[in-house]
Amino acid sequence: MIHETENGWVLVSGGAALGIGVDRNGVVVQTSLGAALPDLRDYPGPALPGHREWRLPAHFKNAVIETGEQGAGTEETLRARRETGTRGLVLRYAGAQADEAALSIRLQDAALGVDVELDLRVAPIPGLFTIGLSLRNSGAARVVVERLLSLTLHLPQSHQRYAMTHFDGAWGDELRLNRDVIGPGSHVRESRRLVTSHEGTPFFAVDHAEAARAASEDRGVVWFGALAWSGNWKLIGEGTRDGRARLHLGMNDHDFALPLDPGEEARSPEAVFGYVADGFGAMSRALHDWQRDHVAPRRSHTPPVVYNSWYATEFGVNADQQIALARKAAAMGVEMFVLDDGWFSGRVNDRAGLGDWWVDASKFPGGLTGLCDAVHGLGMGFGLWIEPEMVNPDSDLYRAHPDWVVHFADRPRTTIRHQLMLNLARTEVQDYLIGILDRLLCENPIDFIKWDMNRSVTEPGWPDCAEEPRRIWVDHTRGVYRVWDTLRTRHPDVIWENCAGGGGRLDLGLASRSEQAWASDNVSAPARLHIQHSYSMIFPAGTMASWVCDDPTGRQSLAFRFHRAMAGALGIGGDLSVWDDAALAEAAAHVATYKSIRDLVTFGDLYRLSDITRTGLSAPFFVGKDGKEAALILARLGEGRPHHPVTIHPRGLHPDARYGASGRDEVLTGVAWRQRGLITSIGPYQSEVIRFRRIDA
Ligand code: DGJ
Repeated sequence: MIHETENGWVLVSGGAALGIGVDRNGVVVQTSLGAALPDLRDYPGPALPGHREWRLPAHFKNAVIETGEQGAGTEETLRARRETGTRGLVLRYAGAQADEAALSIRLQDAALGVDVELDLRVAPIPGLFTIGLSLRNSGAARVVVERLLSLTLHLPQSHQRYAMTHFDGAWGDELRLNRDVIGPGSHVRESRRLVTSHEGTPFFAVDHAEAARAASEDRGVVWFGALAWSGNWKLIGEGTRDGRARLHLGMNDHDFALPLDPGEEARSPEAVFGYVADGFGAMSRALHDWQRDHVAPRRSHTPPVVYNSWYATEFGVNADQQIALARKAAAMGVEMFVLDDGWFSGRVNDRAGLGDWWVDASKFPGGLTGLCDAVHGLGMGFGLWIEPEMVNPDSDLYRAHPDWVVHFADRPRTTIRHQLMLNLARTEVQDYLIGILDRLLCENPIDFIKWDMNRSVTEPGWPDCAEEPRRIWVDHTRGVYRVWDTLRTRHPDVIWENCAGGGGRLDLGLASRSEQAWASDNVSAPARLHIQHSYSMIFPAGTMASWVCDDPTGRQSLAFRFHRAMAGALGIGGDLSVWDDAALAEAAAHVATYKSIRDLVTFGDLYRLSDITRTGLSAPFFVGKDGKEAALILARLGEGRPHHPVTIHPRGLHPDARYGASGRDEVLTGVAWRQRGLITSIGPYQSEVIRFRRIDA
């Protein structure tokens, strides 16, 4: 709901309210973001408490769009210059339109000849809002945009410090949670790799740094935001010189330039942001609901149980061997059989073939149809791996179009994994990929695509872009989106998995284009438990492809590996050709268990009952939206101190309803389960799935 006030608006989203005001000088300011208040007169006006706003320099005013006006020396949301000389923006209110859920504010810099539109929406999920900006050149000369972030958020002025939770990581070690105090100055997290990168994801959560006020899973206030963008991004936690804190999030301005001719417009990606009063768990549940109901390409999608043959066969694939694996997978209850890398022309190893997206006749003499038919005949869907954005120098595509890769004309081209990156900023490259992949999907009955991307950029040049080659940072990502969106539209029944050498591109931009994502190439269960915990901070469990793989250490039982993987979209990636009958039979039972809790994991509310990073125990609790059923998946790691029985306190059950739990005698109300808890004695590398059922319904 949006309310108009004397000099602004209050946007109310559930228990959260965002205040926007226009001060006497026409600066558009954020007046609040916090708990919704009972009376509109309770919200502050545009003046900062204790100040007269018209006397303050613009940069002290919590402008919704910071521009570094009056030499502020603080971080900017937008930066632009006219080619003929004037630099920097001075934005003033020029009008607004509001309805129940959307507020669009126009701002103007008449001297530079720039119009900005700020689009705010109350998201249909309590606690959430969205924001996007566009900047139009309304003057007669060219304007160059040098920074175009999506979101600047001002935290309430406080004498205490704030702490910013964010991720860093690396290949095989994605999504490491960090929490840093926002001290004075700029604390930057970013990607300069042309893709989201393994080193983080454009997301932040902020709480009070001081221990007594810090948020926990179920307590304390949290401000947060995430960006729908899969290219370079930048997150800045900024402590200002007068004791305030701001968060800025958007496309990275590293090496960034977007020239706009008169009449042209540049638009930022959308960011979602919000405020909750009851901890990180509430934040995650709001983000999960948002993605499931409003971001995901397919609503109410139930992830199929996947078997992927990559670890079993790597590049040495052929039809007979895949059909043999498919038979075993089908008997286990698998619903989607995926043929990974190695199936296309010349792909004997990772040195050749990328770019030539037709089947390798030496491996599949009759094409893929025989394998597809066999897989379908076994009652499963058929999935295929592709890596469209890449090319091996040893490929027909590269031999024909060496200029189609990202490169500088006068520098050697660095290969990573023996491959170069196609320049998807170029329309003809997008069209080539759309054409060849459309043909692949038209000629073969493919139900699932795993879209991989295994390197980041080096030599980020675009030699024949005469106008401004630095626009590659934006146009490449938009090109990837165009290819993906066009193929999705033409093949609406195909399910898409987003993979980038593991979790190299986990963000809301691709979450809107793919049903699921591969979170890491690290398939060891202990590492995965940490990654899963982090993944769940932002993304819903049903989107997280999660495979049971072989365990070379021999320490992790099949049950442990299955239980760990059930807290996501279950898949199997082990070499079934060496699994004995007992293992295959046990696996079938686990698949059946997963199917019986799949709706809870996919569509339920997630409560993280234990912080694995501190306790070594993973305890995601998935509660059905109707409160009738829930599933608790316990898995314990081996590290740390001696293991004693632990009490877990299930949250999220209906307080007055009575629930029984599998393997437990008690029948208790939801509030009693929460208070008394449930004792588990599982030891290192042990696991347990506990089902809760409401028995008085
Ligand atoms: C990297 C992916 O993360 C793996 O799952 C696999 O698909 C390989 N690429 C294949 O090259």
